[in-house]
Amino acid sequence: MCGIVGYTGSRPATPLLIEGLRDLEYRGYDSAGVAVMSGKGDLEIVKRAGKIQRLDDALDGGERTSATTGIGHTRWATHGKPTDMNAHPHPGTNGHVVVVHNGIVENYAELRRELSECGVTFSSETDTETIAHLMERAMDRGLDLASALRETAARLEGSQAIVAISPSEPGVLAAARLGNAGGVVLGIGEGENFVASDLAAVIPHTRHVVFLADHQFARVTPGAFTITGTDGQPVGTIDERVVPIDPMSALKGNYPHFMLKEIMEQPEALSDTIQSLVSVEPPEIRLPDLGPAADQLTRVNRVVLIGMGTSLHAAMLGRYFVEKYAGIPAEIDNASEFRYRDAILDPGTLVVSVSQSGETVDVLEGMRVARDAGCLQVTICNTEGGQTTRVADGTVYTRAGLERGVASTKCFTAALVALYALALRLGEARGHLDQETIIERIRALVPLPEHVARILGAEQALARVARDLSQAQNMLFLGRGGAFPVAMEGALKMKEVSYIHAEGYAAGEMKHGPIALIDPGFPSVVIATRHALRNKIISNIEQLQARGGRVVALVTEGDNEIEELCDDCIELPPVDQTLEPILATIPLQCLAYRVAIIRGCDVDQPRNLAKTVTVE
Ligand code: AGP
Repeated sequence: MCGIVGYTGSRPATPLLIEGLRDLEYRGYDSAGVAVMSGKGDLEIVKRAGKIQRLDDALDGGERTSATTGIGHTRWATHGKPTDMNAHPHPGTNGHVVVVHNGIVENYAELRRELSECGVTFSSETDTETIAHLMERAMDRGLDLASALRETAARLEGSQAIVAISPSEPGVLAAARLGNAGGVVLGIGEGENFVASDLAAVIPHTRHVVFLADHQFARVTPGAFTITGTDGQPVGTIDERVVPIDPMSALKGNYPHFMLKEIMEQPEALSDTIQSLVSVEPPEIRLPDLGPAADQLTRVNRVVLIGMGTSLHAAMLGRYFVEKYAGIPAEIDNASEFRYRDAILDPGTLVVSVSQSGETVDVLEGMRVARDAGCLQVTICNTEGGQTTRVADGTVYTRAGLERGVASTKCFTAALVALYALALRLGEARGHLDQETIIERIRALVPLPEHVARILGAEQALARVARDLSQAQNMLFLGRGGAFPVAMEGALKMKEVSYIHAEGYAAGEMKHGPIALIDPGFPSVVIATRHALRNKIISNIEQLQARGGRVVALVTEGDNEIEELCDDCIELPPVDQTLEPILATIPLQCLAYRVAIIRGCDVDQPRNLAKTVTVE
């Protein structure tokens, strides 16, 4: 949830750390801080509650210090309120070590008690401070920074990502990844190196990266890095890779918000994803990163799809694709429930995890459960080298580029395409689809990016509907079949960025409770396209109207009958039935964005949220 960045090199560290923190701000934004160190080991720590701008103001841009090593942190509070004092970095009592941390030290109360009994005084309410004190005490006993981190790590319960510096070792960063609380990526530069929670802070400087695996430790200097295990021995092979991300994609360009930019990027994101996963001529479902999973799909007799939030909604639609094209039973589960249930799993079960970041802790823990049960695993991921891709037997990468808006948009639609392609591949492997159907299904994808571009080209027409909806306190989103997950996603987008209470329901459920809420001030957004069980949806619309409810409907172009029934209609181009939900998503994202802007909300950093949820 928090964002960590570290730098060691010859350039002034502070401006680089601030820039890195801005790149990671979507991970947490309630307080921020940096600790920088000169070549002589002079240490300066500055931290502020609030957004990174407050820290930047306090540092005056940071040009004035000669420090060339440092660590920074942007926080999403777990232990202790977002105050200056609780902001990271946290020093030990004598400032011999300073740490930034992402995760939760589950035994922190016990460690705090133990340290207090030894005379340590705590200056914050955080769990992180225990790490700083433990490391400092280890260094005071003569251990070097990297060894002190390893020794301390052995005392911590829970999952953590930690980066530390010490004035007694100028130019050295020590980093650790312990469990699934968040990634640690090393950015390998020339005469300088970076450490960060994720790629966003690294790719403006270098595309050469190494991801730390669970329980790996790194010692990083300007010209070198070593990676060890818990025993301090260097790991066998280091998977250094070049990430295929254009650094320009991390910029907002001419857009006022990342969310809008990312909504608008969907034609390209879909087109890149489609091209990477299938070929039309010759017709082929490629899925180039399936790895060892490719040959094992024939043994799959059941699929369980897991994810959280938007990715869970993608998984919900993935179930429809799997049932339809692979002809095998498919279930979905919220990963945070799946991991604690006694889920019935066996080696014939394929577990498909969906995670744009590849770092969501509940998804990773769900994958651990699946691995222990001997299941085959495929992950749908947008982050090259993300942790889910390291756990799964195979990956279907979405090629949506970096997504920085906290509200996921382009990664959702790209994940739907990936799930569709995976379902086709499963159907092919199991002999459920004949070649003719596969060719027809691949061809159906081709016009999709163009249709999305058309919808986006006409999105200004949503201005009036958005103005009306922005007055509401509550909203209902309804859909049937493949449009049901999209209704859920439409409601999630609306509540995330506009703070309007919105619920997504299967339209058939409406009469079983939600309709009691309907009155003239409670609008419904209904997905009523040609294929969305249209006649039944018409009944739902009539029932809403009979109770004085205002109805905004998404309809297929030229559907005059529904247009006459509703207060407002949003038209979608006619498209292949299975892919219709992907198109229906686009106006719902645009509506959420527009409503949020009208209400003056911070769409890129909605309150209380963080983009990557690495703690429970
Ligand atoms: C999406 O708008 C949300 N911010 C959130 O629900 C997100 O989809 C969820 O946390 C899962 O993230 P992941 O795809 O990176 O695993």
